[in-house]
Amino acid sequence: MDLQLTGRVVLVTGGSDGLGAALVRTLVAEGARVAFCGRDEARLHAVAEQVIGGPGEAFGRVADVRDPQALAGFVTAATDRFGAVHALVNNAGASSTGPFEKHADEVWQADLDLKLYAAIRACRLVLPLLREAGGGAIVNSLAIGARAPGAGSTPTSVTRAAGLALTKALSKEFGPDGVRVNAVLVGLVRSGQWERAAAREKIAVEDLYHRMGHNSDIPLGRVGRAEEFADLVAFLVSARAAYLTGTAINFDGGLSPVA
Ligand SMILES: NC(=O)c1ccc[n+]([C@@H]2O[C@H](COP(=O)([O-])OP(=O)(O)OC[C@H]3O[C@@H](n4cnc5c(N)ncnc54)[C@H](OP(=O)(O)O)[C@@H]3O)[C@@H](O)[C@H]2O)c1
Repeated sequence: MDLQLTGRVVLVTGGSDGLGAALVRTLVAEGARVAFCGRDEARLHAVAEQVIGGPGEAFGRVADVRDPQALAGFVTAATDRFGAVHALVNNAGASSTGPFEKHADEVWQADLDLKLYAAIRACRLVLPLLREAGGGAIVNSLAIGARAPGAGSTPTSVTRAAGLALTKALSKEFGPDGVRVNAVLVGLVRSGQWERAAAREKIAVEDLYHRMGHNSDIPLGRVGRAEEFADLVAFLVSARAAYLTGTAINFDGGLSPVA
C-alpha cells in the first residue's frame, strides 16, 4: 500500500529518541518531509544523520515543548523550511506515576505542562496551517491509562485522559475543515525511556523487556517495537486513513482491558 506521503510535511515532537525517532525514520522512508524536536541537540543530530539520503528529508530542532516560544520557533522553522504543514504528531513525553499521596501540585503541574499544555499549544499553532493546506492530520501519542487508569498511575493517566478528550473535541470541531485528529494509546513499547530504566537498574535492556512482557500478561507475549508504532502513526497521518478521525487506537499487544 502506497501511503502517498511523498512530499507531505509532518511535524513530530519528541523525535530524537524512542517512538518519535522511529517515526521520523519511517516517515522519511515513505518520502515525507519531517521537522522534529527534542531538548538534546546531539540526539537530534544522530537521528537526522540516520535519515540522510532520503527518499524524504528531515531536520531536528532544539525545542523544549513546555516553552511556548520554543514550540512556536519549532513550527516557524518547519514552515520556513518546507512552506506548509500537513500533519502534527504530539509525541514528546515521559511517564510520571507513583502513589497519589506523594504527588505535590508541582508534580501534577509538570506532567500537565509536558503532555497536555504542549499538545494544546502545538495544535493551536498548527491548525491554521493545516486549514491553509486544505486539511491535514493530528496524532496524539497517549497511553492506555487514558482509558484504563490503574492504581498508582497518576498523574500520567489523568493527563492522558485529558489528551483523549482533547483528541475527540478537536476531531469534532475541525472535521469540517478536513482536519483529522486521532490518538494512539501506547502500552509497553521498546524505547529510550526503557533503555535508561535498565541502565539505572544495571540490568540488560533485553532482560527488562522480557520481564515487562511476562509480568504484564500482554496477550501477544512481548513488548511492542517502536517501528510498529511508527507504521501505525504513518498510516494515521496519511491519506490512506482519510475516513478516520476522533479515534483512539490501543497499541498494546492486547494489554488494555478497554478497547
Ligand atoms: N514507550 C512506552 O512504553 C510508552 C508507554 C506509554 C506512553 N508512551 C508515550 O509515548 C511517547 C514517546 O515515548 P518514548 O517511550 O519513545 O520515550 P523516550 O524514548 O524517552 O523519548 C521521548 C522523546 O521525547 C523528547 N522529549 C521529552 N521531553 C521533552 C520536552 N520537554 N521537550 C521536547 N522534547 C521532549 C525526548 O527528547 P529529549 O529528552 O532530548 O527532550 C525524546 O525525543 C511519550 O509521550 C510517552 O509518554 C510511551
